Amino acid sequence: EEVRLWGGRFADGPSEALEKLSASVHFDWRLAPYDIAGSRAHARVLNKAGLLTADELEHMLVGLDQLEADVAGGEFVGTVADEDVHTALERGLLERVGQELGGKLRAGRSRNDQVATLFRMYLREHARTLGGLLADLQGALVGLAEAHPDVAMPGRTHLQHAQPVLFAHHVLAHAQALSRDAERLRQWDARTAVSPYGSGALAGSSLGLDPEAVAAELGFEHGSAANSIDGTASRDFAAEFAFVTAMIGVDVSKIAEEIILWNTKEFSFVTLHDAFSTGSSIMPQKKNPDIAELARGKSGRLIGNLTGLMATLKALPLAYNRDLQEDKEPVFDSIDQLEILLPAFTGMMATLTVHGERMAELAPAGFSLATDVAEWLVKQGVPFRVAHEVAGECVKVCEKNGIELDQLSDEQFAAISPHLTPEVRGVLNVPGALAARNGRGGTAPSAVAEQLAEFRTGLAVQ
Ligand code: ARG
Repeated sequence: EEVRLWGGRFADGPSEALEKLSASVHFDWRLAPYDIAGSRAHARVLNKAGLLTADELEHMLVGLDQLEADVAGGEFVGTVADEDVHTALERGLLERVGQELGGKLRAGRSRNDQVATLFRMYLREHARTLGGLLADLQGALVGLAEAHPDVAMPGRTHLQHAQPVLFAHHVLAHAQALSRDAERLRQWDARTAVSPYGSGALAGSSLGLDPEAVAAELGFEHGSAANSIDGTASRDFAAEFAFVTAMIGVDVSKIAEEIILWNTKEFSFVTLHDAFSTGSSIMPQKKNPDIAELARGKSGRLIGNLTGLMATLKALPLAYNRDLQEDKEPVFDSIDQLEILLPAFTGMMATLTVHGERMAELAPAGFSLATDVAEWLVKQGVPFRVAHEVAGECVKVCEKNGIELDQLSDEQFAAISPHLTPEVRGVLNVPGALAARNGRGGTAPSAVAEQLAEFRTGLAVQ
């Protein structure tokens, strides 16, 4: 039998076109377990308020347990005619405990406070899942850093050779960004630990229910909403979640872009494992970095989900508006995409082969030690402005003669500046340049080892 939550004042049922437009079961069905958990908590506060007898409560809970099992087993599913998950589950409950008892559960609650609560519960659970997947990816990055503690590579700015850095230093930079994303998820979760249940449609309930008890039962550590209008109408928690997922997408896309470059013949910095790369249907030799490309592509989709949701929320008058039904699909999609992407991406990172000799060979190329020449001159008492000029002159002479800095002769050095004694050669090597940058956060092996230790500790306490 068809159940509608609002038939009373209508002479006619909804048109088919309206039903089709209105229906959300096909995407909000995933909220069903949370809806049932909310119904249990709500039944208990109805009982506490004297609106359900102990006997009725017991029957209601048995019915909800049955419904939960039938939903989990796929024996009970919502349909287009059900409009949304809340309506479908009310039908399911009525079918199991009868119209008389089942009809009592809706007292003092609205789909508006329900959906606001269930959406939070769903997102909070997936925030934890995503946090775990991020930790796995960070683990793979830390593994790469640990496996190659001494490999030097060209550090770049503007994608041009800048200064040599340790490969481990570079990889840990990505891991740091992911740490902040994980932290964002945890901070978001703490902010979202407030339950709108009990806010009713917008104004609260006249039935003397206890929203704090519902909040506690549903795991909302910070209690129930302080303002029922805000509780039912605010979706900044969804927008912020969409931002964090988009940020994760962006941070992963930055790693992805580098993997794509490093995997080219020209770079030859890495080789992808066969299990985490794809072939071409026409070119037999191809081995493509599709996981990295999909990561780069999906980040655009995640940004789109965020901006789409923001546009939906903009300028909505208080309190609940049906526009808000559009809040779920983009955020669900962002979760689904990341939950598919991150395991593949982690697998790709955990299994790639690093060509350390190739990285090290290119580390001093492109005059990346010019800064070291300038800083060596500063240590000889030369003002940095002059030192910069002199080192730049060295680069000019090298470029003209097609040689690298360490190939300049003593005479050439002396001709550029009397300060450039043969001792300058001491800094014209990559290990020396790396080791010199031993302050906190620097690229010296000793400093990177500290970063690695600090990072490991942080990862363990998360
Ligand atoms: N399905 C709706 C949503 O996702 C909740 C139902 C509220 N409907 C209403 N007419 N007040 O936002």
